[in-house]
Amino acid sequence: MAGDDTAAALRPVALRCELQAEPRGLNDLLPRLSWGCEGEADLAASRVVLGVDCAAVVSGQGDLWDSGWLSGTPSPLRYAGAPLPRDARLWWSVGLRDGQGAETWSEPAPIFTGLDAADWEAEWIARYFVLPAGREVPQDSAYDNRFQARPADYMRRTFDLPEAPVRALVYVSALGLYELHVNGQRIGRDVMAPGWTDYHTRTEYTVHDVTEHLSAGPNALGAILGEGWYSGRIGHNQRRAGNHYGGRPAFLCQLHVEYADGQTQRIVSDDRWRTRQGPVCYSDFLAGEMYDARREMPGWDAAGFEEVNWQPVEVFTPDPGAPHLDAARAPLAREVATLEPQSETRAPDGERIFDFGQNLAGYLSMEVEAPSGTEIRLRHAERLDEAGALYTANLRFAVSEDIYICKGGGPERFTPRFTFHGFQYVGLSASGPVEGLSLRAIAIQSDLPLTGSIETGNAMVNQLISNIFWSQRGNFLAVPTDCPQRDERYGWSADAQVFWRTAGYFMDVSAFTEKWLQDMVDGQSAEGIFPDVAPTKPLNPYRLTPQPGAPAWGDAPVILCRDHWLRYGDAELLRRMWAPLVAWMDYIERENPGGIRERSVHNNYGDWLSIGPVTDRALVATAYWIHLADIMGMLAGVLQEPVDRWSALAERLRAAFLARFWQEGSLSGDTQTAYLLALDFALLPEALRPQAAARLGALLDAADGHLQTGFLGVRHLAPVVCDWLGPERAVDLLLKDTYPSWGFSIRHGATTIWERWDGWTPEKGFQSTAMNSFNHYAYGAVGEWIWARLAGIDWNAAGPGYRRLAMRPVFDRRIGHVKARYEAATGPVQSAWAYEGEAVVWEVSLPPGTSAEVALPEGWSRDGQRAFALGAGRHRLVLQPAG
Ligand code: BGC
Repeated sequence: MAGDDTAAALRPVALRCELQAEPRGLNDLLPRLSWGCEGEADLAASRVVLGVDCAAVVSGQGDLWDSGWLSGTPSPLRYAGAPLPRDARLWWSVGLRDGQGAETWSEPAPIFTGLDAADWEAEWIARYFVLPAGREVPQDSAYDNRFQARPADYMRRTFDLPEAPVRALVYVSALGLYELHVNGQRIGRDVMAPGWTDYHTRTEYTVHDVTEHLSAGPNALGAILGEGWYSGRIGHNQRRAGNHYGGRPAFLCQLHVEYADGQTQRIVSDDRWRTRQGPVCYSDFLAGEMYDARREMPGWDAAGFEEVNWQPVEVFTPDPGAPHLDAARAPLAREVATLEPQSETRAPDGERIFDFGQNLAGYLSMEVEAPSGTEIRLRHAERLDEAGALYTANLRFAVSEDIYICKGGGPERFTPRFTFHGFQYVGLSASGPVEGLSLRAIAIQSDLPLTGSIETGNAMVNQLISNIFWSQRGNFLAVPTDCPQRDERYGWSADAQVFWRTAGYFMDVSAFTEKWLQDMVDGQSAEGIFPDVAPTKPLNPYRLTPQPGAPAWGDAPVILCRDHWLRYGDAELLRRMWAPLVAWMDYIERENPGGIRERSVHNNYGDWLSIGPVTDRALVATAYWIHLADIMGMLAGVLQEPVDRWSALAERLRAAFLARFWQEGSLSGDTQTAYLLALDFALLPEALRPQAAARLGALLDAADGHLQTGFLGVRHLAPVVCDWLGPERAVDLLLKDTYPSWGFSIRHGATTIWERWDGWTPEKGFQSTAMNSFNHYAYGAVGEWIWARLAGIDWNAAGPGYRRLAMRPVFDRRIGHVKARYEAATGPVQSAWAYEGEAVVWEVSLPPGTSAEVALPEGWSRDGQRAFALGAGRHRLVLQPAG
C-alpha cells in the first residue's frame, strides 16, 4: 500500500553545507552539500544551485554552480564548481523533480565562506600585562576574590564610516570566551563562544553579518572577554585549577565593510582598542560569576561613550605560537530552553530553594528589585539532601555560586555570561529584602538540530527517554563532556563512544562528531596514541603531552567513524581520519604482538563503574581490539583500501581471545559484560555462542533479572538480551525499577541519567562525594535499543545514511504503543505501532528514495511472512500474532 492517491509533493528538507545548516565559515572551499527529502511522490532527480544572489537561487539559478539534474537524490554531494570565493555570503538551494516532472525547490540556505589564513590582518589583543610607562595602574580591590579569578575585560573601538555599508561581515574569535557588541547591541545568540579546542593548536572563528548594525558616521565595536576553558578553571586538579592554555584571554576581530561603489574597508583588532574592567568581577565555569551592577558602564559599546579610565590594550603573542584559525566546525552553543521554577521551599537554615523540575546545564536569568548594594547569592545543586538543603558535596571543587550586587532604582535583570552550572535546584539568599523576584533556568548546549521525538505507552520509559535526552543536552557543550556540574567537564572518550549511537537519534551530531574527532586527532601522540579526553591539555599539569587513551577510551575515534558512516553515509570524515585510525591500530598491534591486549593499556579503566563482579580487563581490552579490527575492515572497504590486513588481524585476535578467555564453557571472570561483549562483537565461534548466551541468561537470573554492567557493558545489554534471550527479557530489563536499573533512578526522582547505578539509595543515601554525578549520559546508551528496536528505526550497512533501513521492531503490551519520528539524513522516518485487540497496527513512513528490510518479531507475520521489504512512502500494516 505504498503512498496515497493524492501523493504529497516532494520537498527538500534539512539542507546542510559541510554538515551545518548555516556554516559560518568553511574550512573547505569545495564543500559537501547534503539534504533530505520529504513527500510521497516518486523521486526522479535532484539539482543543486549555488550563487551570490539569493533571489536567483530561489528560482533555481545559481551563478556560481548548477549541478544540472542528477538522477535520484545523490546526497551528500560535493560542490564541483570553481573553489568558492572567500569572505562571501552565498546561497544554495535544492530542487527535486518527481516522476511526473513536477519540480519543488527548497528555501535558500546560507553559506558564509569565511577567511583564509592569509586574509587575517587582525592581531590578538588582551588586557595589558604591564601598562606603558607613565600610565597609572588602576587600583581596584573590588576585583580581588578567593579564586584569583579574573574580572571580564571590556574592550572597545570607535571608527567612522563615510556612508552606510551595503555589506558588513565581522569575523571573530577568542582565546577564552567573547561576547561581541556593535553600536550598543549584542551580536548573535552564541554563548561560550568560540567553544573549546586545544587552543595551543587551533582556535575556531565565526562570522556575523552586521550590515544592519552599522551606519554612516561614528560606530563602535565592543567585546566582553571571559576566561572559559582557556585560562579559567576546569578539571579536577587543584594544583593547576586554571590557566591551562594561557594566563589571560585574548580577542581577535576583523570587520569587513563594503560600500555601494564596491570600495571596501577593514576594522581589525589592534592597538587602537581600549580596555577596562566593568561589572563582571569574575566569571568562571567552576567558581561561578560575580556581577556588581553598580559598576555597569551604560553605553560602553556605543560610539558616543566617554571613555573614563580606559587603557590601551596590548597586542598579544599567543604562547606557544599562534593557533591555527579554523572556521567553526560545528554549531556553537546557544540558549535552547527556558524553565520556570516548579516549587519553592526553605532549607533548614532559611535559604530559599527553587526546584526547576529538570536537571540541566546552564544558568539562571533573574529579575529583582532591591536597594543598591544588596547582595544576592544563587547557589546551584543537582539534588537536595534529606533535610531539604542543597546537596553540593558532589560538585567537589566546583563552587557553582553566582553573586549579584544590585544597583537599585528599579527592576533589574541578571544573567551570568561566562559560566554554567549543572543543576536542578537553586538556593537564593540575599543580604537584604528583595522584591519582584522572578527566576528562570536557561539550558544551553551546542545548538545541534533536534532530529528525534519518541513516545511510548509507558510513563517510566518516557521518563527514561527524557532523561537520556536531557543528559545529552547538558553534556553536548562544545565537546561531549562527561558531566556539567563538578570540577571535571572533560570530553571523556569512552563515555562518548558508548553513547554516540543513541545521541545520533536525538540530534544531528554529524558536525559535532567531525569537530570532536579533530580534537581527538589534535591530541594524538606521535606514536599514534589517542587521548582519554579531548581536548587533552588540562589533564596534564606536569607535561604537555596528552593522557594516553585506555582501551575503549582511545578506541572512540574508530567507533565514531563507523557510527558516522552508517548514520550519515558520508565518507569524507573516514578519509580524513583514516591515517590517524591506522596509526592507533598500529600502536596497539606493536605493543601487543601476542594478540591479547594487555600492554600499554594506560589507565585501563575496564568496565568503568560496574557493580557486582569485575570483568577481566584484558578480556574487555581484547574484545574492543577485535571490534576495532572488524570496523577497520568495513571502513577499508568503503575507502577502497586493502581489507585483508583487517580481516587477518580480526581472525588472529579471535583465535587468541578464544584460547585465552574461554575455558570450560565460560568466559574468564564470568560476568554479564564479558558475555555481552563476546556476543555483540561476535568474538566466539558460532557454535559456542548459544552457550555464552545461556551463561548470560543464568547470570541475569542469579541477579534476579538485574543488570551488573558498567559504562562499557551497558550499551550491549538490551540489544544482546533481545537477540539472544528474547525481546521479552530485554523489555523486563528496561522496565525494572528495583536496584540496580534505570527505573530505580527514576523512582528516586532522576530527571537525567546518573553516573552510578547507586548514586543515591534509600539504605546508603548519596554515594561517595568523590565521584557522583547525576548527569552523565553513559548509562543512557540504552537509548539506541529503544530507537532501533522498540521503534524499529535502525541503520543498515547495506544502505548507509538511512538509504536503506533495518526495521526489526519489538512489540510488547507493557510498552503499549510507540510513536517515533526521526529526521534521518535521507528525510523523515516515522514508525508507530499500537496494540488493537490481539493485532498490532504498525504505521511506517519512509522518505523518497529509501527502502527498509523488515523483520517482524517471532510470532508475528504479515500475510504469513516475517521478513519482507518496504519501499518509500506510507504503509499501514495490520499484523496478527501467530496461532
Ligand atoms: C569521568 C568518566 C570517565 C572516567 C574515566 C571519570 O571521572 O567522569 O566519565 O570516563 O573518569 O576514568
